[in-house]
Amino acid sequence: MIKDEFYTLSNGVKIPKIAFGTWQVKPGEEAYNSVAMALKNGYRHIDTALAYENEESVGQAIKDSKIKREELFITTKLPSHIKGYKDTVDAFNLSLKNLDCGYLDLYLIHAPWPWSNVGQDCVEGNIESWRAMIDLYNQGLIKAIGVSNFRESDIKPLIDATGFTPHVDQIRFFIGNTQEQLYNYCVKNNILIEAYSPLATGNILKNEIIQKIADKHNVTPAKVALRYCLERKTLPLPKSTHEERIIANLELDFRLDDEDMKELALVHDSNLDRPYRS
Ligand code: A2P
Repeated sequence: MIKDEFYTLSNGVKIPKIAFGTWQVKPGEEAYNSVAMALKNGYRHIDTALAYENEESVGQAIKDSKIKREELFITTKLPSHIKGYKDTVDAFNLSLKNLDCGYLDLYLIHAPWPWSNVGQDCVEGNIESWRAMIDLYNQGLIKAIGVSNFRESDIKPLIDATGFTPHVDQIRFFIGNTQEQLYNYCVKNNILIEAYSPLATGNILKNEIIQKIADKHNVTPAKVALRYCLERKTLPLPKSTHEERIIANLELDFRLDDEDMKELALVHDSNLDRPYRS
């Protein structure tokens, strides 16, 4: 079962192959209930961020689950507008307090620039944040460190300045949006790609080719989309607030064959990238 399978990061840390994402999951009851449901149904890898403003609810659901800390893998992220050594340590401590989980399994720089100023040159700030994260990692407060939304040109300065390669890059990755150049760079440098929005925030469910392949395997388009991420050796972070979907998204014990993968590589559907409308 996929819920019992792991990837191994470049530092030897084992990371569950699928994570439960909490982006856009409202703090309070919604975040608490969806994380509680996810844990009850076998997810052990939970992904949040200080910027999602739901860390406390996520942490409470984790504590109430009574699952042993060492069986869990908890990821959170440094907000995109926080750059620099001291501010990074402060933000980390706040996340740790919110989650109240002793240590983090994975801490990511959320983006190379503030969301309010996409494309801004923050190389120096990112390097200082990276130094802080390396120190927290060396102190044993974080088991693995990485980045999110970083391109090759954002990652290289971190490595050049510190000699420390991120263990993970969490990027927007789904059928039809696979950022092949960055993908190849990460594979070459042993950086695990985590795939956020693996269902293209819901839009993937309407694509005809994906539907055809889903019919062939007698599964849903959502399962094809998640399996695709796994076949590419990326780590999908599906999210749902519905229990039947939370369960279904873990049931991925089928394989896509070479022919399926070739067809899926050709999917270019501009509808996929539209904001989700239910
Ligand atoms: P909901 O929370 O109502 O289940 P992504 O992970 O790409 O961001 O996509 C998340 C969106 O996809 C959410 O709107 C979620 O809606 C929906 N979703 C998640 N899992 C499934 C599924 N198995 N089938 C259909 N829709 C899903």
